[in-house]
Amino acid sequence: MPFYDPKKIEVMIEAEALRERIAALGREIGDVYRGQGELVLVGVLKGSFMFLADLCRAIDLPAEIDFLGVSSYGDAEESSGIVQVTQDLTKPVEGKHVLIVEDIVDTGLTLQYLVANLSTRRPASLRVCTLLHKPANCKNEVKLDFVGFEIPDRFVIGYGLDYKSKLRNLPFIGVNVGEGPPF
Ligand code: IMP
Ligand code: MG
Repeated sequence: MPFYDPKKIEVMIEAEALRERIAALGREIGDVYRGQGELVLVGVLKGSFMFLADLCRAIDLPAEIDFLGVSSYGDAEESSGIVQVTQDLTKPVEGKHVLIVEDIVDTGLTLQYLVANLSTRRPASLRVCTLLHKPANCKNEVKLDFVGFEIPDRFVIGYGLDYKSKLRNLPFIGVNVGEGPPF
């Protein structure tokens, strides 16, 4: 038995499909930033840690890695729209090309806050890469420069995304189905 109940998790995106798409995203991102100066990948904690780990190895450039910690959900499945910064960047990004790396954009409220916050720090450019996008719930017009997958409006877990703080270590993206928690 794995650490989760396979009958209660429907696979939405297999590990292999994630690998292939992320390799392509990495090439796309490399082509945009090559020869442009310093690149900083800003991972949004906690959800993006796994995506960032794979994405940064697919980008053939000497990028810096930093993290921003935000919390907008608590343990609920609906976005509160209130973004709490739990950890700031470790270094200034002035004059550098900043790429925000997100796990998922749902309402877009978190991203809207992050873009407003980071743009005050005078980066050379500011772009957004998200692994997943749920277009159904978008409440604002933040531009997404790189998108891994557009997905239907369902609460997804795994590959960094949590189910009540757990199951971030699932190697694929899935959906909880049936009665009760998936572990
Ligand atoms: P937004 O502000 O509504 O765009 O939501 C942003 C954050 O909520 C994401 O960065 C995730 O951490 C979390 N989130 C949104 N949808 C999901 C989901 O389906 N599963 C797990 N976390 C989610
Ligand atoms: Mg997130």
